[in-house]
Amino acid sequence: MNKSPDAHRMEKIVSLCKRRGFIFQSSEIYGGLNGCWDYGPLGVELKRNLKDYWWRIMVHERDDVVGLDGSILMNRAVWKASGHEDTFTDPMVDCRSCKARLRADQLVEKNGIKQCPNCGGKDLTAPRAFNLMFKTFVGATEDESSLTYLRPETAQAIFVQFKNILEVSRKKLPFGIAQIGKAFRNEINPRNFTFRSREFEQMELEYFCRAEEGMQWLDYWKEERLKFYENIGIPRDNLHALTVPDEERAFYSKGTYDIEYDFPFGRQELEGVAYRTDYDLSQHQKASGKSLEYFDEETKQKFIPHVVEPSAGVDRTVLALICEAYSEDEAPDEKGKMETRIVLRFHPRIAPIKCAVFPLLKNKQPLVAKAKEIVALLRPHMYVFYDETGAIGRRYRRQDEIGTPFGVTVDFETLGEKDPALRDTVTLRDRDSMKQERVPVKDLPSILVSRIS
Ligand code: GAP
Repeated sequence: MNKSPDAHRMEKIVSLCKRRGFIFQSSEIYGGLNGCWDYGPLGVELKRNLKDYWWRIMVHERDDVVGLDGSILMNRAVWKASGHEDTFTDPMVDCRSCKARLRADQLVEKNGIKQCPNCGGKDLTAPRAFNLMFKTFVGATEDESSLTYLRPETAQAIFVQFKNILEVSRKKLPFGIAQIGKAFRNEINPRNFTFRSREFEQMELEYFCRAEEGMQWLDYWKEERLKFYENIGIPRDNLHALTVPDEERAFYSKGTYDIEYDFPFGRQELEGVAYRTDYDLSQHQKASGKSLEYFDEETKQKFIPHVVEPSAGVDRTVLALICEAYSEDEAPDEKGKMETRIVLRFHPRIAPIKCAVFPLLKNKQPLVAKAKEIVALLRPHMYVFYDETGAIGRRYRRQDEIGTPFGVTVDFETLGEKDPALRDTVTLRDRDSMKQERVPVKDLPSILVSRIS
């Protein structure tokens, strides 16, 4: 069977991720662990740049948001009160023919009959609820009294620390608490590379407000989040804000948008923006017996704030960034013959390596010394890569393939050997246009910083 162009594109992306060290299968030498992934040297940089930019936009550049780094293990009472212990489930179906475990919503339907997507079998069990939380035991005994879960979302730590943070930050409504961290779900069917994983990271904001302002803040955050994705290089045309229909929303939510992206494997959710009302704080107040109310100095009233939650997946966004950036074009090789060039067109702000520095020839000591000086000049400002091996064109290609937006070449002009006026200037190459400009070495940090921030 011929693969669709999108399936072929996805295969190339997965292969590039492994070949160039973005993403590897977890525990690969032991056959892997389904739904778990390791980020290699370039993947970890991309992920950090994304998380740092999210933190900058959502926390540092605002007066109304503070941060939290909560623990992954929490008292089991949290998960009882939040409803996760009883209701955080997916409907699961077993195929009696091939023994596959399937999510009920992933069955295929032919002529009105549900079938196994793996073998086409029709002998399926009735759906039953499967809780997605990973169980674990705290301490030396393994019984009910020591049972808890790896958190399936980061949000609950924010709710249970609401009162402490309110007191120490002295914030007034509306204000938010932001957190980035790991979450774990024992997904029935991890799939589409890192898209649905069992261990992943979330970037979540809980934005507390008055009940009457909830719907306004929901729309505000939907727009802010769409802008965020545009600012990291995902064009608006490839993003979609889906209004989640009433029957699909959690019973306590008054409105939810799913921000979706056109992945090669289809349109899928990147982030949920949900108006969760006062459900979570009320549940924790009831279960803990501790007041989680807010005191309004002006009206002298006490009440439980409502909350709007933009909740994004780090791994899904990283995957969207890679899918969006992947492109192939034509560029001349060393002999001027056109060849296919693979380029990751990352926005410079999130590119793993910002600038590569090349001496034209590795066996000319003054060129090497000058290139190393430039590396030292740039390193306090950005992640820089030094490469002296192979023909210059090959070196450019290697950087294009990992998305490095800028290349600096030190040549004989830099040394002032051909034209004294060009001494201490270098060529600065742009990854996308492949155009080169001549710039003074001393201006490099400010030119590059202005283009990557
Ligand atoms: N606190 C709300 C919450 O957790 P969610 O829609 O279940 O809401 C939010 O998750 C985001 O977390 C999703 O939009 C997605 O980006 C990410 N996410 C959820 N499950 C995931 C999984 N199994 N693998 C990767 N990312 C996941």
